Amino acid sequence: MPISIRQITPVFAGEVSGVDITQPLSREDVAAIDAGMDRYAVLVFHDQRLTDDAQREFTRNFGTLEASPGGHIATAAERRLPLDMQDASNLDKDQKPLARDDRRRMFNLGNRLWHSDSSYRAVPAKYSLLSGRIVVDQGGHTEFADMRAAYDALDDATKAEIEDLVCEHSLMFSRGALGFTEMSEQERTMFRPVRQRLVRTHPVTGRRSLFLSAHAGGIVGWPVPEARAFLRDLVEHATQPRFVYSHRWRQWDLVVWDNRQTTHRVTRFDESLVRDMRRTTVAGDEMTVAQAA
Ligand SMILES: [Fe+2]
Repeated sequence: MPISIRQITPVFAGEVSGVDITQPLSREDVAAIDAGMDRYAVLVFHDQRLTDDAQREFTRNFGTLEASPGGHIATAAERRLPLDMQDASNLDKDQKPLARDDRRRMFNLGNRLWHSDSSYRAVPAKYSLLSGRIVVDQGGHTEFADMRAAYDALDDATKAEIEDLVCEHSLMFSRGALGFTEMSEQERTMFRPVRQRLVRTHPVTGRRSLFLSAHAGGIVGWPVPEARAFLRDLVEHATQPRFVYSHRWRQWDLVVWDNRQTTHRVTRFDESLVRDMRRTTVAGDEMTVAQAA
């Protein structure tokens, strides 16, 4: 049976059928999924019983695995998963939910804000692939917003104004927005801001999109409060229900999204329950703008 993709919302997101991604894929299948990503920006695969290695293998079809430190305050000794697999669970190394006041949990709460994965890296991520190993019944949805449709809906004056704007992104900004500000000197160095264009152009389709993220805490050349107020306006515009797909997880779903064209967030859930989500990430291949010297 060939791969087929059914569009889920009027603007984006597709549900894929006719492929078993736990097995090696043909070149045609990879091309069909890649084309689907360019078009729909979010793809949902159901009933994929991935092991960690199978998830890595599937991910490598689309580029290099991102496996760099600098994305979390958890130390190497505290990590539940190796560096090439991002831990999107609420668990510690012993597979127990983190305590309410655990610093790592408070840091993870930043994922409740709309963001683009790794926008705090000089070379931001291409795709993220999130596998639902143990899901919760209530809440814990992943919501996606289509930044292409959001860009298209801006008025011409705004499009002209933002065309060449450059933002500063850092995990300190997204965590700071929730009042998580206590970071060590070492963490501050690790999370030093990087620059990203506010408007991106997709390398294949040529479509423009807003590169918004909770990690964005400033616009180069703008007073900080003015920049943050404007970025809030843009996020509010870009995450209207008409641009959003809310994914309700079933166990063994794999959801792939293009961080260059979408933002996402997780919704609240009962964190005394186990929610085991594992993410692999396809590294991007270029900076969106030169970094400050
Ligand atoms: Fe994320």
